[in-house]
Amino acid sequence: MAKLKIGVAGAPRGASFLAGMRAYEDRAEIAAVYEPDRRAREEFAAETGVPALEHYDQLLERVDAVIVASPQHHHVPQAVAALDQGVHVLSEVPAAVSLEQARLLLAAARASEAVYMLAENYCYSRPNLIVGAMARAGVFGELYFGEGEYLHEMKGWHTDASGAPTWRHFWQVGRSGHSYPTHSVGPLLQWFDDRIVAVSCVGSGRHTDPEHEIDDTILLLARTSRQALLSVRLDLLSNRPHLMDYYSLQGTAGAYEAPRAEGQEPRAYVLDRSPSERWQPLEEYAEEFLPARYREVAEDAGHWGADSFPVRDFIDAVTEGSPPAFDIYAALDMTLPGIVSEASFYQGGDWVAVPNPRLWDAGVGTEPGREAPLA
Ligand SMILES: NC(=O)c1ccc[n+]([C@@H]2O[C@H](COP(=O)([O-])OP(=O)(O)OC[C@H]3O[C@@H](n4cnc5c(N)ncnc54)[C@H](O)[C@@H]3O)[C@@H](O)[C@H]2O)c1
Repeated sequence: MAKLKIGVAGAPRGASFLAGMRAYEDRAEIAAVYEPDRRAREEFAAETGVPALEHYDQLLERVDAVIVASPQHHHVPQAVAALDQGVHVLSEVPAAVSLEQARLLLAAARASEAVYMLAENYCYSRPNLIVGAMARAGVFGELYFGEGEYLHEMKGWHTDASGAPTWRHFWQVGRSGHSYPTHSVGPLLQWFDDRIVAVSCVGSGRHTDPEHEIDDTILLLARTSRQALLSVRLDLLSNRPHLMDYYSLQGTAGAYEAPRAEGQEPRAYVLDRSPSERWQPLEEYAEEFLPARYREVAEDAGHWGADSFPVRDFIDAVTEGSPPAFDIYAALDMTLPGIVSEASFYQGGDWVAVPNPRLWDAGVGTEPGREAPLA
């Protein structure tokens, strides 16, 4: 069978998918890169030996699938153009930056035969995979509280070497609300097997780098459809070491806490399994719960090895017809709470409903028989 030809849009982050692809090199290959910055495009081409293209249209003409790894506001226009031409899409996070974009993306995904998948890599970290399998097996009982935190001091990323603003200057710190939700919300929604129905978003005020519109710390409270409560913190400015992958979970039969500092390890407490009132290392549950397909991480894969897996699941979805790990609805469930949080923030933390994209009519009827599954 011919190899799946995959194009990359956006060289720097696009390159992080190469490690995961090595295990699949008999089935898929990077065929070309589109990147507007000459130096970045040539570096990628030199490393991979693929043609470097100056126009996105040229990329779509040559490939079966595209990895959209461009700045966030380009994800939807590029995904829509690909889906409209029957080119499969693996999109970087978040899926969209506005409600309008989210509707356009949904319409395109519904009307296309091509696969759309969100590359939410934090869902694939070893502890998150183990906790997810334990949660699905009911080990923690009924889940009712979860936390996610993305604390990443990124002040050096908001302007370039010449001092000019980068895309992050507006899209990540130029508006207040939770502007980067999927890494924190994604794993929680996987564990809870649920979606967020309403959010309340407040902030700490601007202290560290008040040039930026976003508050130093943003706190998002979220209510799920099954009445669970999630607490999600974003901090892109405060002076502190990174902590991008903090999570916790509480259920009727147990709890999980990620480490907060070096030297600590992920820990679980399971009623009737853990010693009385004592945490156990989560690793003690790995043999039983870590899914076999995620045991071997690729050498050099970023984000604790998690970058190994989104591209493999995507290739399986395209070539074997298996459901994509994070389809258009999962992608929007992870993305929309952040978009909606902006309205809540500017209304002083009022609770704002998060739309259910399964009920949107965008694109419905464009292809008879491909209507949305009404939730
Ligand atoms: N999942 C993760 O862990 C993770 C990590 C980093 C970045 N990201 C995501 O990846 C994307 C890129 O982030 P980054 O850190 O590489 O940003 P970056 O600013 O380092 O690089 C962006 C690159 O995109 C290029 N670019 C600009 N417009 C483009 C377009 N229309 N099409 C293609 N390329 C274009 C730029 O020239 C630049 O080389 C963002 O959406 C970000 O959210 C995800």
